[in-house]
Amino acid sequence: MSRSLISALSAMLVFPLTAVAGDLRQEASAVLAPITPARVASVVKNNELTPAKTELGKKLFFDPRLSRSQIISCNSCHNLGTGGVDAGPTSIGHGWQKGPRRAPTVLNAVFNIAQFWDGRAEDLKAQAKGPVQAAVEMNNTPDLVEKTLRSIPAYVSEFQKAFPNEANAVSFDNMAKAIEAFEATLITPSSRFDRFLMGDEAAINDTEKRGLRLFLDKGCAACHGGVNVGGNGYFPFGVVEKPSEEIMPLADKGRQAVTKSAADEYVFRAAPLRNVALRAPYFHTGQVWALEDAVALMSVDQLGQKLSQEEIAAITAFLGTLTGEQPSVVYPILPARAKDTPRPQ
Ligand code: HEC
Ligand code: HEC
Repeated sequence: MSRSLISALSAMLVFPLTAVAGDLRQEASAVLAPITPARVASVVKNNELTPAKTELGKKLFFDPRLSRSQIISCNSCHNLGTGGVDAGPTSIGHGWQKGPRRAPTVLNAVFNIAQFWDGRAEDLKAQAKGPVQAAVEMNNTPDLVEKTLRSIPAYVSEFQKAFPNEANAVSFDNMAKAIEAFEATLITPSSRFDRFLMGDEAAINDTEKRGLRLFLDKGCAACHGGVNVGGNGYFPFGVVEKPSEEIMPLADKGRQAVTKSAADEYVFRAAPLRNVALRAPYFHTGQVWALEDAVALMSVDQLGQKLSQEEIAAITAFLGTLTGEQPSVVYPILPARAKDTPRPQ
């Protein structure tokens, strides 16, 4: 074989491959973005993130005394050791009551457009007041929470440090702000996908690249975009075909309860897909346990396409590359209760 033929052949072989990979990164970067710590500061509003506040928020996140029974903490349902979720399908709260929806993860929640499956809380500080008061979750009242926190001297001084110059530092609102500050640290950078986006060609393998290609070309990324690969907008669940009632019960109309608009019936926030491999079961009812099955359901119900086993496996492999470095959290020692701290109820 002549030299020129060999070089022409190898050019044909090598060039298209690198061109495809280059395009893949470029196309992915147009709709998806890596997690960077700098991004956090730009998304948290009206809440200065200081170490004192973050440290206090961490204690509050782990403190079961925020609940009426004093046995349920945020971490009970958003376990930071298991991807920021509980066992599922839905959560167990006060008095062993079962909530109606699957717990979404707190990891990277700071990047979501709004909080909850239906986006009814505008940000994390608005969100944090919900579960503390929800009857099926922590079943507490702002008054009782403040009374509990004020009775514990170490908390009083930590609130004063976190909210200096505020006459009423120990408040329900400041509890929520401190928790938001802690949650803003719960990000998972350096996933293999992010390393690929930032130029490390070998960070994801060929199957995963094929999965990414399908994720872009089939239309998954049209809904699951942005830094959280989802969490960025609202869409009907069941665009083409309605999921079974087990997976989407008719009674939960999603975002319609928030906007009161007929157009929002069965509309939910596109689920953020970061670390998705760590937190089965899937969807707002937690009825699907295998990620492959969730991908297959999405392709049929959202896109009207029946993908092959090989395509589903490739997309699932790609989703696995979204698992990032989990935050390493040192379990906090919580301040001791005092004589007049309210008792568990
Ligand atoms: C009993 C279980 C339970 C407890 C306790 C609980 N949560 Fe949740 N959390 C849930 C469920 C279920 C949802 C989803 C509810 C919905 O969308 O309607 C949720 C949603 C969230 C979200 C929204 C995430 C997203 O992607 O939209 C955040 C953030 C969150 N919780 C933080 C907290 C914090 C902070 C605490 C403690 C103050 C807490 N949760 C306590 C079960 C719980
Ligand atoms: C039209 C918008 C849309 C398209 C297209 C779409 N999704 Fe979704 N996806 C959603 C919504 C909305 C949810 C949340 C559904 C719910 O309420 O449980 C979701 C949920 C998911 C979940 C469950 C995640 C979790 O934490 O429970 C996975 C996995 C998923 N999508 C993957 C995909 C894949 C892969 C594709 C392409 C084959 C795709 N999606 C296409 C809107 C979409």
